[in-house]
Amino acid sequence: MNFENILIEEEGSIATISINRPKKLNALNKDTITELHEAFKELDADKDVKVIIITGSGEKAFVAGADIGEFAHFSVSEGQKLAAKGQEVLFDFVENLKTPVIAAVNGFALGGGLELAMACHFRVASENAKMGLPEVSLGVIPGYGGTQRLPQLIGKGRAMELIMTAGMIDAQKALNIGLVNHVVPQEELHATCYKIAGKISNNSSIAIGYAIKAVNAGFKSDVNGYVSEIEAFGSCFGTEDFKEGTTAFLGKRKANFPGA
Ligand code: COA
Repeated sequence: MNFENILIEEEGSIATISINRPKKLNALNKDTITELHEAFKELDADKDVKVIIITGSGEKAFVAGADIGEFAHFSVSEGQKLAAKGQEVLFDFVENLKTPVIAAVNGFALGGGLELAMACHFRVASENAKMGLPEVSLGVIPGYGGTQRLPQLIGKGRAMELIMTAGMIDAQKALNIGLVNHVVPQEELHATCYKIAGKISNNSSIAIGYAIKAVNAGFKSDVNGYVSEIEAFGSCFGTEDFKEGTTAFLGKRKANFPGA
């Protein structure tokens, strides 16, 4: 597929997706969401890709939200469909990928932008990053999972305040409350994400996929996280990666995981 709104770069086992609408501060319009879905699907299916990093083009924004111009005239049912479809094809999709996804938050991550960063498996921010869910200032609420994932990450009270005030927090505050894992100068953001991605890619991608599934299970109301963990744990014993990992350890050598 040819992409107009995103760029993909692959270096070794690490792929970087850049949302590339800098003049619109990388706001998520319908086409961008569709392209992101396709890109994530393709990269997740590619066995050579061990980690995906997502970021925004330019130095100002990760993503400044859903494209307000696209939904300003929507009806009740169109609004519901927008949220349902977006959650299905992008936000839930990313969260449930078997390939780890790191959000490199390089500037404004607002509304749908913060929701996208929160759907990723974890976040690294640059010092200039600003995060918030300003939807209530527009007369709407977060609809791409923000009311659920923000309390999971920072606790209910803090999430309530951030959502109700429609405020923005800086990177340091985001670090202090656990919304992002690291804060680095902007020029070091990419290298920092690469360094972490490199460490991840040395491990079993199959086991990492199962770990993502088990962790996510704990946040779903229709499944028991402990039961999911037992199933995923057991499944690992049937993989080539498990044979390689344990054999390498016992043979006192570094594992070279086949990813199967
Ligand atoms: N949807 C559509 N367009 C957006 C956008 C969004 N969420 N966020 C920014 N843009 C566009 C602006 O309309 C502007 O386009 P223009 O040059 O054609 O007029 C361009 O991006 C640059 O934004 P601008 O507002 O001029 O930059 P700024 O530095 O003055 O302000 C922000 C930056 C992020 C504070 C401001 O753009 C903003 O508040 N954006 C909306 C954030 C939001 O509410 N997101 C949640 C949506 S549900």
